[in-house]
Amino acid sequence: TRVAILISGRGSNMIALIEAARAPDYPAEIVLVLSNRPEAGGLAYAAAAGIPARAIDHKAYPTRETFDAALQAELDAVGIELVCLAGFMRIFSAGFVEAWAGRMINIHPSLLPLFRGTRTHEQALEAGVRLHGCTVHFVIPELDAGPIIAQAAVPVLSGDDPDSLAARILVQEHRLYPAALALVAGGKARLEGDRVVFDADVA
Ligand code: GRF
Repeated sequence: TRVAILISGRGSNMIALIEAARAPDYPAEIVLVLSNRPEAGGLAYAAAAGIPARAIDHKAYPTRETFDAALQAELDAVGIELVCLAGFMRIFSAGFVEAWAGRMINIHPSLLPLFRGTRTHEQALEAGVRLHGCTVHFVIPELDAGPIIAQAAVPVLSGDDPDSLAARILVQEHRLYPAALALVAGGKARLEGDRVVFDADVA
Protein backbone atom coordinates (compact mmCIF):
# COMPACT_ATOMS: atom_id res chain seq x y z
CA THR A 1 0.00 0.00 0.00
CA ARG A 2 1.37 3.41 -1.07
CA VAL A 3 1.31 5.68 1.99
CA ALA A 4 1.79 9.43 2.45
CA ILE A 5 2.54 10.89 5.88
CA LEU A 6 1.39 14.44 6.67
CA ILE A 7 3.27 16.37 9.35
CA SER A 8 3.52 19.85 10.82
CA GLY A 9 6.51 19.58 13.13
CA ARG A 10 9.31 17.32 14.36
CA GLY A 11 7.52 14.24 13.02
CA SER A 12 8.55 11.70 15.66
CA ASN A 13 5.58 9.53 14.68
CA MET A 14 6.59 9.88 11.00
CA ILE A 15 10.05 8.58 11.95
CA ALA A 16 8.52 5.58 13.73
CA LEU A 17 6.42 4.81 10.63
CA ILE A 18 9.37 5.22 8.23
CA GLU A 19 11.55 2.93 10.36
CA ALA A 20 8.82 0.29 10.72
CA ALA A 21 8.17 0.31 6.97
CA ARG A 22 11.80 -0.65 6.30
CA ALA A 23 10.90 -4.25 7.29
CA PRO A 24 10.63 -6.24 4.04
CA ASP A 25 7.33 -7.81 5.04
CA TYR A 26 5.71 -4.57 6.24
CA PRO A 27 2.43 -4.15 4.28
CA ALA A 28 2.94 -0.44 3.51
CA GLU A 29 5.49 1.65 1.63
CA ILE A 30 6.06 5.26 2.73
CA VAL A 31 6.36 7.05 -0.61
CA LEU A 32 5.70 10.70 0.30
CA VAL A 33 5.93 13.11 3.22
CA LEU A 34 4.05 16.42 3.09
CA SER A 35 4.08 19.24 5.62
CA ASN A 36 1.88 22.34 5.83
CA ARG A 37 4.83 24.14 7.45
CA PRO A 38 8.06 24.57 5.40
CA GLU A 39 10.10 24.70 8.63
CA ALA A 40 8.91 21.28 9.85
CA GLY A 41 11.94 19.36 11.09
CA GLY A 42 10.51 16.09 9.82
CA LEU A 43 10.99 17.09 6.17
CA ALA A 44 14.78 16.83 6.50
CA TYR A 45 14.56 13.38 8.10
CA ALA A 46 12.30 12.08 5.32
CA ALA A 47 14.58 13.50 2.60
CA ALA A 48 17.63 11.92 4.30
CA ALA A 49 15.73 8.62 4.28
CA GLY A 50 15.30 9.00 0.52
CA ILE A 51 11.58 9.73 0.71
CA PRO A 52 10.18 12.63 -1.40
CA ALA A 53 9.32 15.33 1.14
CA ARG A 54 7.62 18.59 0.30
CA ALA A 55 6.02 21.55 2.08
CA ILE A 56 2.65 22.85 0.97
CA ASP A 57 2.47 26.07 2.94
CA HIS A 58 -1.13 26.60 4.01
CA LYS A 59 -0.41 30.34 4.26
CA ALA A 60 0.01 30.39 0.47
CA TYR A 61 -3.64 29.48 -0.07
CA PRO A 62 -6.65 31.79 0.25
CA THR A 63 -9.06 29.19 1.60
CA ARG A 64 -9.15 25.84 3.37
CA GLU A 65 -10.63 24.29 0.23
CA THR A 66 -7.85 25.52 -2.08
CA PHE A 67 -5.20 24.25 0.33
CA ASP A 68 -6.95 20.88 0.52
CA ALA A 69 -7.15 20.78 -3.30
CA ALA A 70 -3.39 21.38 -3.52
CA LEU A 71 -2.82 18.49 -1.09
CA GLN A 72 -5.17 16.26 -3.07
CA ALA A 73 -3.25 16.99 -6.28
CA GLU A 74 0.07 16.02 -4.65
CA LEU A 75 -1.44 12.80 -3.29
CA ASP A 76 -3.06 11.87 -6.60
CA ALA A 77 0.14 12.63 -8.56
CA VAL A 78 1.95 9.73 -6.88
CA GLY A 79 -1.00 7.35 -6.48
CA ILE A 80 -1.32 7.54 -2.71
CA GLU A 81 -3.68 4.87 -1.33
CA LEU A 82 -3.57 5.69 2.38
CA VAL A 83 -2.80 8.89 4.32
CA CYS A 84 -1.29 8.95 7.83
CA LEU A 85 -1.63 12.19 9.79
CA ALA A 86 1.25 12.45 12.27
CA GLY A 87 1.33 15.60 14.34
CA PHE A 88 -0.51 17.33 11.50
CA MET A 89 -2.02 20.49 12.96
CA ARG A 90 -4.56 21.51 10.31
CA ILE A 91 -8.29 20.82 10.12
CA PHE A 92 -9.43 19.61 6.71
CA SER A 93 -12.61 20.58 4.86
CA ALA A 94 -15.33 17.94 5.15
CA GLY A 95 -15.16 17.26 1.40
CA PHE A 96 -11.47 16.37 1.55
CA VAL A 97 -11.98 14.06 4.54
CA GLU A 98 -14.97 12.35 2.95
CA ALA A 99 -12.95 11.71 -0.24
CA TRP A 100 -10.46 9.77 1.96
CA ALA A 101 -13.04 7.93 4.07
CA GLY A 102 -11.49 4.69 5.29
CA ARG A 103 -8.10 5.65 3.80
CA MET A 104 -6.93 8.35 6.23
CA ILE A 105 -5.83 7.65 9.81
CA ASN A 106 -4.56 9.82 12.66
CA ILE A 107 -2.88 9.41 16.04
CA HIS A 108 -4.26 11.39 18.94
CA PRO A 109 -2.54 11.60 22.35
CA SER A 110 -5.46 10.53 24.53
CA LEU A 111 -7.75 7.55 25.08
CA LEU A 112 -10.57 8.80 22.82
CA PRO A 113 -13.36 9.65 23.23
CA LEU A 114 -11.79 11.27 26.28
CA PHE A 115 -9.89 14.53 25.81
CA ARG A 116 -10.47 15.53 22.20
CA GLY A 117 -8.70 18.61 20.85
CA THR A 118 -5.37 19.97 22.02
CA ARG A 119 -3.47 20.05 25.36
CA THR A 120 -4.70 16.53 26.08
CA HIS A 121 -2.17 15.90 28.88
CA GLU A 122 -3.27 19.02 30.70
CA GLN A 123 -6.86 17.83 30.28
CA ALA A 124 -5.96 14.41 31.72
CA LEU A 125 -4.16 15.90 34.73
CA GLU A 126 -7.01 18.33 35.32
CA ALA A 127 -9.54 15.48 35.21
CA GLY A 128 -7.45 13.41 37.62
CA VAL A 129 -7.58 10.24 35.49
CA ARG A 130 -5.20 7.43 36.53
CA LEU A 131 -4.99 6.00 32.99
CA HIS A 132 -4.17 8.02 29.89
CA GLY A 133 -2.80 7.07 26.49
CA CYS A 134 -3.06 7.34 22.71
CA THR A 135 -5.48 6.36 19.97
CA VAL A 136 -5.16 5.63 16.25
CA HIS A 137 -8.45 6.22 14.44
CA PHE A 138 -9.93 6.69 10.99
CA VAL A 139 -10.38 10.37 10.18
CA ILE A 140 -13.94 11.71 9.75
CA PRO A 141 -15.02 15.36 9.41
CA GLU A 142 -15.73 15.66 13.16
CA LEU A 143 -12.42 16.37 14.94
CA ASP A 144 -10.87 13.48 16.92
CA ALA A 145 -14.11 11.50 16.65
CA GLY A 146 -13.40 8.83 14.02
CA PRO A 147 -13.80 5.06 14.54
CA ILE A 148 -11.01 3.66 16.71
CA ILE A 149 -8.44 1.22 15.27
CA ALA A 150 -6.03 0.79 18.20
CA GLN A 151 -5.22 2.24 21.63
CA ALA A 152 -2.44 2.07 24.19
CA ALA A 153 -2.71 3.09 27.86
CA VAL A 154 -0.15 4.34 30.35
CA PRO A 155 -0.52 5.05 34.07
CA VAL A 156 -0.64 8.64 35.29
CA LEU A 157 1.98 8.77 38.07
CA SER A 158 1.96 11.07 41.06
CA GLY A 159 4.16 14.03 40.29
CA ASP A 160 3.45 13.80 36.56
CA ASP A 161 3.29 17.05 34.65
CA PRO A 162 2.20 17.41 31.01
CA ASP A 163 5.76 16.85 29.76
CA SER A 164 6.40 13.65 31.73
CA LEU A 165 3.02 12.31 30.69
CA ALA A 166 3.62 13.27 27.02
CA ALA A 167 7.01 11.54 27.06
CA ARG A 168 5.54 8.31 28.50
CA ILE A 169 2.76 8.34 25.89
CA LEU A 170 5.05 9.15 22.97
CA VAL A 171 6.87 5.84 23.55
CA GLN A 172 3.53 4.07 23.12
CA GLU A 173 2.57 6.19 20.11
CA HIS A 174 5.76 5.07 18.31
CA ARG A 175 4.80 1.44 18.90
CA LEU A 176 1.04 1.79 18.31
CA TYR A 177 1.03 3.78 15.08
CA PRO A 178 3.21 1.35 13.03
CA ALA A 179 1.12 -1.56 14.35
CA ALA A 180 -2.16 0.18 13.48
CA LEU A 181 -0.94 1.17 10.00
CA ALA A 182 0.07 -2.45 9.37
CA LEU A 183 -3.47 -3.59 10.27
CA VAL A 184 -5.12 -1.11 7.90
CA ALA A 185 -2.58 -1.45 5.06
CA GLY A 186 -2.73 -5.23 5.42
CA GLY A 187 -6.53 -5.20 5.17
CA LYS A 188 -6.97 -6.62 8.68
CA ALA A 189 -8.87 -3.55 9.92
CA ARG A 190 -11.21 -1.60 7.67
CA LEU A 191 -13.90 1.04 7.92
CA GLU A 192 -17.42 -0.21 7.17
CA GLY A 193 -19.89 2.63 7.61
CA ASP A 194 -19.03 4.14 10.98
CA ARG A 195 -17.54 0.96 12.45
CA VAL A 196 -14.10 -0.62 12.22
CA VAL A 197 -14.29 -4.29 11.23
CA PHE A 198 -11.33 -6.48 12.22
CA ASP A 199 -10.15 -9.84 10.94
CA ALA A 200 -10.90 -12.60 13.45
CA ASP A 201 -7.25 -13.02 14.40
CA VAL A 202 -6.75 -9.38 15.42
CA ALA A 203 -6.47 -8.83 19.19
C1 GRF B 1 2.14 13.65 19.41
O1 GRF B 1 1.69 13.67 20.76
C2 GRF B 1 1.01 13.13 18.56
O2 GRF B 1 0.13 12.27 19.26
C3 GRF B 1 0.26 14.37 18.19
O3 GRF B 1 1.25 15.36 18.00
C4 GRF B 1 2.35 15.08 18.90
C5 GRF B 1 3.65 15.26 18.16
O4 GRF B 1 3.72 14.28 17.18
N1 GRF B 1 -0.50 14.14 16.98
P1 GRF B 1 5.05 14.13 16.26
O5 GRF B 1 6.22 14.02 17.21
O6 GRF B 1 5.15 15.39 15.41
O7 GRF B 1 4.82 12.88 15.47
